[in-house]
This record gives sequence, C-alpha cells and structure tokens, in this order.
Amino acid sequence: MELIFATNNKHKLSEIRNVIGDNYKIIGLSEAGIEGDIPEDYNTLEENAFQKANFIYEKYGGNCFADDTGLEVDALDGRPGVYSARYSRMGDIQFPELEANKGNIKKLLIELDTKELRTARFRTVIALILNERKYLFEGIVNGIILKQPSGSGGFGYDPVFQALGYKKSFAEMDIEQKNSISHRAIATRKLVEFLKTCTM
Ligand code: IMP
Repeated sequence: MELIFATNNKHKLSEIRNVIGDNYKIIGLSEAGIEGDIPEDYNTLEENAFQKANFIYEKYGGNCFADDTGLEVDALDGRPGVYSARYSRMGDIQFPELEANKGNIKKLLIELDTKELRTARFRTVIALILNERKYLFEGIVNGIILKQPSGSGGFGYDPVFQALGYKKSFAEMDIEQKNSISHRAIATRKLVEFLKTCTM
C-alpha cells in the first residue's frame, strides 16, 4: 500500500521506513511531486497534524499521513511544545542568526539554566487519512534535558534529550536504538498496527 507522508525531512522518512516494514511504500512530498509550504497554523500538535494531512488529501487525493512533534519541558510549563521548531525565533530570547536547531538548543539551555527540574517529553501525533476516514496516533517518550549538547547523530533537540532509563542522548544513539524507543517510533508502531488490521 502506498501512503504519502507529509514531510520532506529525510531523518523522519528514514526513521519511519525503518519501523513500517515492507508492506507499505512511504512516499515523501518531493517524491510525490508536491512542492511548496504546507500550512501549520494551529496551537496544538493534533490540529496541525490534521491540517497537514487534510491539505495533502484535498489537494492531491490519496491516502496520507502527517506528523507533528513537540518537546514539552516541565519547568517551562510545557513549552516549547507545538512551537518547538520556531522556539528560537520567538519570545524574549531569540537567535535569528543561528541555524534553527542550534538556536533552539541554545535558548533551551539558557531558559533551563537556573531550573532544578529538567524533566521533559517528546510527543508526536500522527494524523492519518485513509479511505476518507481520519485517525490519530500518539507517541510519548519521557526524559531529561541535559546541561550541554552531546553527540552528533539524529536531528533537532536530540543532542540535549536523554530518555528515561538511558545514559546516552538521542544524538549519541544509532538510528536503530533511537527508533526502538522514540516518540515517533511509538506513534508509528501504533499506526502500523492499525494499518495491519486494515489490510487483513
Ligand atoms: P516537527 O514535528 O517537524 O514540526 O518538529 C518540531 C520540532 O521538534 C523541530 O524543531 C524538530 O527539529 C524537533 N523534533 C521533532 N522530532 C524530533 C526528534 O526526534 N528529535 C529531536 N528533535 C525533534
């Protein structure tokens, strides 16, 4: 079965292909010939994921899914959350001159500098539109924010996120290890389990 995944992020595509197995062909936006920005205008991960999936479905037809992820930090009352990608481009502390991921990490470490509480979670939601019906899947991984970046793998906030029960940051893990525990992997497994029940 072919499914369009509303992303051009190579890391996400390879992570999801690793988990999803051979029964499904995952097609990224550029492979599907879809160009331009996809709107992401809402204040919750759920609404944004559905907005992206709806956009693809209405414009191009076909079964598709979209994900949205946020890093929810307890000492920051759940921020940056749905604004994780734009975090260093908004608010009182901004680093417009830095590449977004670097700026985001820098701002996070500054905001947490005086805080004892370092707990956080990555939360992914996947919105699926399959044969005109809509479904939602969620994956959460709990952990802590490290005091300094560590490791060169992964992407985004990976160098400062250490999952509960592990001694390595996400950026120090190989992709298989991250995939076995990550928020997106958990949401993806739920998606895959669901898809299996659809094709039986
Ligand atoms: P989005 O889901 O692509 O919008 O991601 C939102 C923000 O969270 C971006 O800054 C991403 O870099 C970051 N992010 C998403 N997934 C991960 C992950 O698995 N590890 C680290 N950062 C992530």
